[in-house]
Amino acid sequence: MIKEYIKFIKEYLKLSQTKARYLFEMIFTAFCYKGFLILNTLFASKIIKYATLSDSKMTFINLGLLTISYIFYKLFYFINLKVYGKNMNYCYNNLQTKLLNKLVQVDDNFTKNIGKGKLLNSINSDVIDIGDMCNQISELFTTIIQVIIVCIIVARYDKLVFVIFLIYSILHIEIKNYVDRKSSIYLRKQKRAIDRYSSLFSQILSGLQEIKTFNMLPKLKLKLNEIKNKYSDSYIKKRNYLTIRDNDVRFITYFFKISLYLILLFLMTKQKITVDVLVLIVGYFETITSYLDQLIDSTSTIREVSICVDRVNSILNYKSNNLISYGNIYNDNIDGIIEFNNVRFGYNKKEIIKGISFKINSNSLTAIVGQSGTGKTSIINLLLRLYKPSSGEILIDGVNIYDYSKDIYKSNVSVVNQKPFIFNMSIRKNLDFVDTNINNQIEACKRVGIHDFIVSLSKGYNTILRENATNISGGQKQLISLARTLLSKSEILLFDEITASLDPDTSSNIDTILKDLKKDHTIIMITHKPELMKKADRIIVLNEGKIVGDGTHKQLLESNEYYRALQTRKSASKLGVFNND
Ligand SMILES: Nc1ncnc2c1ncn2[C@@H]1O[C@H](COP(=O)(O)OP(=O)(O)OP(=O)(O)O)[C@@H](O)[C@H]1O
Ligand SMILES: [Mg+2]
Repeated sequence: MIKEYIKFIKEYLKLSQTKARYLFEMIFTAFCYKGFLILNTLFASKIIKYATLSDSKMTFINLGLLTISYIFYKLFYFINLKVYGKNMNYCYNNLQTKLLNKLVQVDDNFTKNIGKGKLLNSINSDVIDIGDMCNQISELFTTIIQVIIVCIIVARYDKLVFVIFLIYSILHIEIKNYVDRKSSIYLRKQKRAIDRYSSLFSQILSGLQEIKTFNMLPKLKLKLNEIKNKYSDSYIKKRNYLTIRDNDVRFITYFFKISLYLILLFLMTKQKITVDVLVLIVGYFETITSYLDQLIDSTSTIREVSICVDRVNSILNYKSNNLISYGNIYNDNIDGIIEFNNVRFGYNKKEIIKGISFKINSNSLTAIVGQSGTGKTSIINLLLRLYKPSSGEILIDGVNIYDYSKDIYKSNVSVVNQKPFIFNMSIRKNLDFVDTNINNQIEACKRVGIHDFIVSLSKGYNTILRENATNISGGQKQLISLARTLLSKSEILLFDEITASLDPDTSSNIDTILKDLKKDHTIIMITHKPELMKKADRIIVLNEGKIVGDGTHKQLLESNEYYRALQTRKSASKLGVFNND
């Protein structure tokens, strides 16, 4: 049992990196205030002793000592609280930073493997629970020492009473430890259910619109209830164990209390102890009972927090399988020439990109087109370095993309997706994430044609965008996100179906925007819209992971049946052409 707790404490110390100074201060101050608490009982019994002997001088001296001891008790208690607060803050901030840093260092599968709910709960509640652990360790140490001191004091008066105190303490701790071990299984289950609940709930919040439209709530409620029932089931089982524990402990306490009284009365009748000693021992029995309760609380909490420590560790120790490291090329003077040389790539061994090669000039607009599932977004993902090709190479300005340093790469290659993420903050704050210069922000918004709309709003750039920007249209959100991308001063812009939610008017505006942007950017645009394909300098036609056409709209229209089919939005595969086999 002791080994088990040492392991819990070691793991906590390793994870939280609690300063040794804080831990020492916590234990020292707790030890002092609890020490004065023991003295208080001692002085109180002395007062009774001298009062019964009518020794007023000694009675007053002990009264004075009791007062001083009480003041010191309060003082150290206060300092202990202060240190507790400092450590809690330190630990909480430290762990939260570690978790946040981890979020941006992991691969794509991270949220899928760990679970959104667990991440949310760990970052919110587990770190708070862990922050409290230092206090529990100090409570544990000091309480054990107190129990030993009380037993020693009692042993000085009577050996039999000492044995009773000892057996009582051991039984108390053993029962508790057995039950806690059992109940912690259900606590883990309970936490897992909370994670699943949070995960589903956060999905509900993101998909509220669809949920309302398709009346999905009744089915979702059933799912939520199912999780809630699992939670309640584990909770009840855990509570059962704890109730048994409390009842057993209470029974043992009564049993030993009665035994102790009988022995003390017997000793008094035999005149082996005086009334003040009886008061002292009875007082210490109450004290030791409260210490043992405290010990139960601390060890239970330590066991519970060790579950939180495990959970946070499982996040921090998550090993990314396909994490791609950065190189050390710091040249920021990038023209934006993109080259794919016989690139092959697949997810989970299924090949998606089957040996493609192309070279895209800087300051040009290239469209990648093809049916759904042919691998267009996968090309963008490769360019974003989210994955590595199984063979072949991807170059920018003749340099392998994996050789660029993180900062250089991130500031030169940017993407705008079909569903860009907008924070529940003002338009300005959303732009501030990339560049806080107001003039640059206005210029970027003007370039994408959203500035006039923004200033027409009553609060202009200070308009708060609701979560996922539900108070502006999908197209406007798209343009704000485009402006945010422009602020990053990226040389290469990757647009993945950004016009999908634009109305025809804005969509036609996008031609002008793209024409303007390609003056100083290399743009790759994925689109299903024939009107937009026409605007590209060059179109790469993709089918089942292979390039089946490459040229201008005019050239492809004349020579490429697959491309013609895409224009009329018929399924090219149904034409039976360009089968890759
Ligand atoms: N993370 C992933 N894990 C496993 N398979 C994936 C993953 N992402 C995409 N795929 C699969 O790879 C194939 C190509 O997907 P990709 O997203 O590149 O298609 P796309 O051409 O962009 O399609 P769309 O036009 O519908 O956006 C699809 O069969 C898809 O199911
Ligand atoms: Mg796609």
